[in-house]
Amino acid sequence: MKTKQDSAPLFEAVYNHAKKRMVSFHTPGHKNGRSIDKKLLSFTGKNVYYFDVTVFPDVDSLHDPTKCIKQAQELMAKAYGVEQSLFLVNGSSSGNQAMFLSACKPGDSIILSRNIHKSVLGGIILAGLWPIWLQPKIDQNLDIILDAEPDQIAEAIKKFPEAKAVFITSPTYNGVTSDLLEIANICHKNNKLLLVDEAHGPHLRFHRDFPISAVEADADMIVQSVHKILSALSQGSVLHINSDRIDFNRVKKVVSMLQTTSPNYLTLSSIDLARRQAVLHGEKLLGEIIDAAEYGRKKINRLKNFFCFTREDIRSRGYDLDVTKLTVNVTKTGLSGLEIEDILNEQYNIQVDCADLFNLIAIMGIGSAKADVQKLVNALEDIDIKYHGIEKNWNLNLPSLTTEMVMTPRDVFFQKESKRVSLNKAAGHISAQTLTPYPPGIPILIPGERITKEICDYLFELSSKDIRISGQETDTLKTIKVVK
Ligand SMILES: Cc1ncc(COP(=O)(O)O)c(C=O)c1O
Repeated sequence: MKTKQDSAPLFEAVYNHAKKRMVSFHTPGHKNGRSIDKKLLSFTGKNVYYFDVTVFPDVDSLHDPTKCIKQAQELMAKAYGVEQSLFLVNGSSSGNQAMFLSACKPGDSIILSRNIHKSVLGGIILAGLWPIWLQPKIDQNLDIILDAEPDQIAEAIKKFPEAKAVFITSPTYNGVTSDLLEIANICHKNNKLLLVDEAHGPHLRFHRDFPISAVEADADMIVQSVHKILSALSQGSVLHINSDRIDFNRVKKVVSMLQTTSPNYLTLSSIDLARRQAVLHGEKLLGEIIDAAEYGRKKINRLKNFFCFTREDIRSRGYDLDVTKLTVNVTKTGLSGLEIEDILNEQYNIQVDCADLFNLIAIMGIGSAKADVQKLVNALEDIDIKYHGIEKNWNLNLPSLTTEMVMTPRDVFFQKESKRVSLNKAAGHISAQTLTPYPPGIPILIPGERITKEICDYLFELSSKDIRISGQETDTLKTIKVVK
């Protein structure tokens, strides 16, 4: 008998086991919650700990699934219309790394833009790849960064025909999706794999008013954070294999290498349930969220000092938008997004997903309610009246990041000794570190690249501002680590 989308075999198996209240002589050591701290226990209740089990026949094995996990993964694959899906319990971070390790061999090159999640650089190091960098697009009217355009990808493939794959982040953190149909067409015409970080897009397939998803556009491998927008618990993600150009057995081995052997079964079960919910109720639930987000966007756009770009704004730039992500531009308030984030947190009991100098990003998910949007709108209305700073002349810009890679990031990571040189003498050296200033929130320095004067000047300018630079290793940005 075929399993149907209205079932949740993995959840049911763990639930049935948990209900039996069996005596535990297996990990974890808290023994069905008995030794969990009392304060935590009184907040969570005890049932949840009966779900925290380990690998045994009742609940199947993530690394060698033959029963309920296998069935749940098959249902996931069917729900998305792909050949295979694998559950991930270390988020899309491990999914990105798995894509590189399974699609490429050490020494292969891959075309991608710099607006990548940090796990991508980890994947490049683990897999020993040569990155071919595309310049991300800056939109100075909206103060956001966009992924590379199809023309840039086509040009890079022409210039570097040896590249194995193209990697795209779509949607971006702001919900902006690339022209995936055109990109997939370019990739496949040129015999390149298309790998998509769709961490922010597990819901796109389930409502017709969303931009096209990577699976529908025929990407070869896609990673999605089911926990970010659908209702899985944190860390619950999925890797979809959508073409016979990918060796599924190799993907399985790689995913197994990257995952714990003690997956959390509550997280695993929640992936199964999130799939069932999205298939059965996604159209309705996501439709309500789209309406609520558009309501919020309209209200925010009536305020004097806040601005929230629309789908039309993004479409006119050749991209598309998942409207459930509200990017609220705050530059006219004279305060930074980080300051407004603090005000929202401290004065209004509202926490957004992230903020930078220019924007707040309020992410909606399948559990969002219109009442939440109303609270955000009310708070912004209030802030619009009460809080004003002095308007700054901040500009989102980037140096040219299509630099020459002299060594692979992996070789720098493992082999070479490094030394520190002062910022004004670093041009021409090979970087031995990653530096990611916020904003722009993308790596400006990558291990293995030839440091340009333009990059040094850019970092020098940032060092005089109150900007957080991840990877800095020292208190001030006076020196940079380079290959000795
Ligand atoms: C674009 C992008 N890709 C990947 C990730 C990593 O996802 P996860 O948190 O599921 O590991 C994130 C996380 O924020 C992200 O924004």
